[in-house]
Amino acid sequence: MLAPDALHRLWETPMGVHRFEQADAVNETLVRVLLSLRALDPANDPQAAFYASGDDLLQRVRLPEWERLIAFIVDGLRQTVVLANQAAWPLAKPSLQIALRGLWFQVSNRGRHHDVHTHGNCSWSGVYCLQVDDAPRREAHPVLGTTNGVTRFYGPHFNHLGGAHMDFGNAYLQHAHVDMAPRAGQLVVFPAWLAHQAMPYDGAKDRIILSFNASVHAAQRSDQIHGYSST
Ligand SMILES: [Fe+2]
Repeated sequence: MLAPDALHRLWETPMGVHRFEQADAVNETLVRVLLSLRALDPANDPQAAFYASGDDLLQRVRLPEWERLIAFIVDGLRQTVVLANQAAWPLAKPSLQIALRGLWFQVSNRGRHHDVHTHGNCSWSGVYCLQVDDAPRREAHPVLGTTNGVTRFYGPHFNHLGGAHMDFGNAYLQHAHVDMAPRAGQLVVFPAWLAHQAMPYDGAKDRIILSFNASVHAAQRSDQIHGYSST
């Protein structure tokens, strides 16, 4: 039920951006560890410009720096999820169980990209940037320019643009994507259903990111907000 109003803006898309204060202290070590895991992977082609690990990193890495990063990721995720749901949850501050359902890393360079996709079997996903060229160098690329290595997110409006009528009156519909520039130490938390792609990247440093899927549960009660009564 909506109150009379000349404009209701409905169905927003939640997204969180967080900055890891300890990034400069831990990223380099973690990059070395992850690249050694890549080197040990029998499926790895060391010459390839793209590599994706298995999604079981959470159990495979044992390091204090790793524990600090995971704590930061879970805390950032929790903050975004609470803010996104506070109007929908019956309790203002429910205790939560957050489960990382998969955690993997990707290395890319020499123009490689990751095509448009969504993540399944989870409610939230995220990407943490461990290493990438700094912005001036990245954006100075003669071909890729400012989109070099960005993650492009496609909002719900995007699906309505195919064959859509466009005029001055639906200009709001035409801002259907947002580019998130990669930045070492930056975590972006987004709904798993949100379509996105990693645009082509070419740089002096490899672009190395961690990706994850997460599910979130109420610790003491059913996940179902609306109960179902049997008759
Ligand atoms: Fe993704």
